[in-house]
Amino acid sequence: MARDERRDGDTPDPRATPQATWGGRFEEPLDAVALRYSASVDVDKRLAPEDIRGSLAHVRMLASRGVVSEAEADTIAKGLETIAVEVAEGSFVWDAAREDVHMNIEATLTERVGPVGGKLHTARSRNDQVATDMRLWTREACRATAARIDRFLAVLAVRAANTVDVLLPGYTHLQRAQPVRLAHHLLAWAEMLDRDRGRLLDAARRMNESPLGCAALASTTFPLDREMSARALGFDRPMRNSLDAVGDRDFLVEAVAALANCAVHLSRISEELVLWSTQEFGFVTMSDAYTTGSSIMPQKKNPDMAELARGKTGRVVGDLVNLLVMLKGLPLAYNRDMQEDKAPVFDAFDTVDDTLDVLRGALATARFDAARMRAALRDGFADATEVADWLAARGVPFREAHHVTGRLVGRCVAEGKVLSELPLDAFRAEHEAFDESIYAALDLETAVERRDLPGGPAKARVRAAIAELRERLDARGVDTDAVAAADGASSEGGA
Ligand code: ARG
Repeated sequence: MARDERRDGDTPDPRATPQATWGGRFEEPLDAVALRYSASVDVDKRLAPEDIRGSLAHVRMLASRGVVSEAEADTIAKGLETIAVEVAEGSFVWDAAREDVHMNIEATLTERVGPVGGKLHTARSRNDQVATDMRLWTREACRATAARIDRFLAVLAVRAANTVDVLLPGYTHLQRAQPVRLAHHLLAWAEMLDRDRGRLLDAARRMNESPLGCAALASTTFPLDREMSARALGFDRPMRNSLDAVGDRDFLVEAVAALANCAVHLSRISEELVLWSTQEFGFVTMSDAYTTGSSIMPQKKNPDMAELARGKTGRVVGDLVNLLVMLKGLPLAYNRDMQEDKAPVFDAFDTVDDTLDVLRGALATARFDAARMRAALRDGFADATEVADWLAARGVPFREAHHVTGRLVGRCVAEGKVLSELPLDAFRAEHEAFDESIYAALDLETAVERRDLPGGPAKARVRAAIAELRERLDARGVDTDAVAAADGASSEGGA
């Protein structure tokens, strides 16, 4: 089948192409394949609310400067508002032949209000229009994702509160290393994600400048009030340089880079959940609502949501690379390449938002197995550092203490024992400084409690860290308990 035939169904009618809009220069309609190739409305119609907001701010400003009359501005604004309602209701009819969101809205407006609709685009280009739309959309998206991260943190704060007494091995190189509190581990995740939140809000702040009035590239001859339209859209100020305003998308790179970082964090959390739900670890059981079975192996309960979260990270990192490569090598100012910015930006936000939601629910309802964690601690020589520290605290140089302890561990391995099962003689055979008090030092609870520094896992430190996180959330207007309860997590009860 010929390519054109196969595509017939979704190829817009070239007779309706925007060539008419380009005016006298064009005699032939756009080639059908070229039209399909360049039309972006399927993707950028998502910008319709921002596009209309931008147009309203622009036309009001034009009226204030006498570029259009107040009556004309009223007519245009009314038309735009009815379109906004239809867009919100989903009844607005999009036409791929009209290329993009901007021309769809403007053409429909003019159909409805007559030729005066054509005045909306005075002193404006789609170049400053689309840059404005994207800044508005992405600013809001950054704030919304930041709020989602806050909800994730609320669940972590509550899960941490009910796992303060649960000890598990902390790992380095994925080898059992030293005992920590599960709450301490969950709070580490919270810190990682809170920085992502900060990066998103930083990006939102920096992008909060208005390109409107920069027109195609060199501003315009009309006496615009750029401050007025900037303020109307909640921007801090008009952008300082017209070429830059229409010719860069670094603000999108910044936002998507923050999302990629966040996705990588969520992926690492997911990897731990996947590991912890293996029979080998057995540290966590995810609720049925977030796991699936196997069609052939009845015993299976697979942590698919965590695996998918890990897998979807590739998309978000890809979205970032997509944007960077698209921009690389573009001369100033606007180039049509930039139309390709939307799909990766939307995809990155959608993917991270969904991942935050699904993992938040999975974590809220996961059951942690304190006994399995403790068993892993017992078998893992997580108390070896205690022995070395015990000697070092009694004046033995740490390097020597380390060596002595290593020999004790070797002996345990050979005899199938753990350190606390060695008789005092065995300790003393390696170093004469050992006495009975070594056994108290080997107690895991004691080991954790002695790590009583800011940032450490001692109980008081962890409780303080939870309280501090809750205060942070409180200051942001997040009701931690309400959010966590809605997800089925409560601060009452055990792990
Ligand atoms: N759909 C276009 C985009 O997203 C709008 C700007 C088009 N500008 C132009 N000069 N063709 O980039």
